[in-house]
Amino acid sequence: GKGIAVFTSGGDSPGMNAAVRAVVRMGIYLGCKVFFIKEGYQGMVDGGANIEEANWSSVSSIIHRGGTVIGSARCSDFRDRPGRLKAAKNLVDRGITNLVVIGGDGSLTGANLFRQEWKSLLDELLSTKQITPEQREKYKHLHIAGMVGSIDNDFCGTDMTIGTDSALHRIIEAIDAIVSTAYSHQRTFIMEVMGRHCGYLAIVAALTSEADYVFCPENPPPVDWPKKLCDKLEQERSAGQRLNIIIVAEGAIDRDGEPISAEKVKQVVVDNLQQDTRITVLGHVQRGGSPSAFDRVLGCRMGAEAVMALMEATPETEACVVSLDGNQAVRLPLMECVERTKAVAKAMADKQWEKAVQLRGRS
Ligand code: F6P
Repeated sequence: GKGIAVFTSGGDSPGMNAAVRAVVRMGIYLGCKVFFIKEGYQGMVDGGANIEEANWSSVSSIIHRGGTVIGSARCSDFRDRPGRLKAAKNLVDRGITNLVVIGGDGSLTGANLFRQEWKSLLDELLSTKQITPEQREKYKHLHIAGMVGSIDNDFCGTDMTIGTDSALHRIIEAIDAIVSTAYSHQRTFIMEVMGRHCGYLAIVAALTSEADYVFCPENPPPVDWPKKLCDKLEQERSAGQRLNIIIVAEGAIDRDGEPISAEKVKQVVVDNLQQDTRITVLGHVQRGGSPSAFDRVLGCRMGAEAVMALMEATPETEACVVSLDGNQAVRLPLMECVERTKAVAKAMADKQWEKAVQLRGRS
């Protein structure tokens, strides 16, 4: 059977274990030899015990666990050719020519570059006698299937990334808890949520918690936002509301590209309205804990589809990313999605907010 390896890379997210489990079990079911690569690309470079054959029961009792049981890392060694050469040798030694990568756009881009370079890496291994001519011939094609694991939902091409739904559950639970204490004391709370340069978590959290105001990176507020914010808060209070909730995405910015921090928002509220105001930064609580049912199913479906993609790959098949489209797991060309994701970042850097939102698409 084919040699498949699965690894998780970059920041962890709830649901990654479900995806790993599905890759292992689908792979074994279809007669493949499946390996874990532990600690992401670092494990691939270091080899040894980091690359371990998986069996059916090695993925028992992980579907409900948060994070990634096979570890993840941001790896600098893999950015240089000598690191990638070591990684290629470690894969060939174990007969692995199929990779399932679960990570963000950086991790997926790395995998695609590795694939493009694969033949020249094998040539170098052959010329330095680290592999045999038979190995060079037998393992000449490397196939890649990616899945996006991230709580940020910041990747173009998929409606949802693995982990976003669980993070939202955690955020909503935290806001609900804050609301009850805010009510008692007639306070205003500013909640900072994660998402790096993407406002998805902030927007959905605001919509589903009946927040009064939300700041997010893709739609910087008008320059007179302090007045607009205060008017809105006052209006709510005079209508009888005992509290206010303001959501600030960690990447929120104004129209000049300057950060709008929770601290800055607090200052505006306190200076203008003298409201009793507190800040809660949710931090990594949002990323940890057990995955939601949605993320477990998403991980399972994407993992199974990734293995199917590798099974059907021909030497010409481009690297793919498994995405959610509607309620369907589909395969899209990996590089196209990465390019679109980069174009969103560029549009935002160029202050072309509408273009950024358009490019991001449905997510
Ligand atoms: O990409 C996931 C994420 O949690 C972002 O929302 C956040 O900006 C970042 O990772 C935090 O990174 P780290 O865990 O390295 O502090």
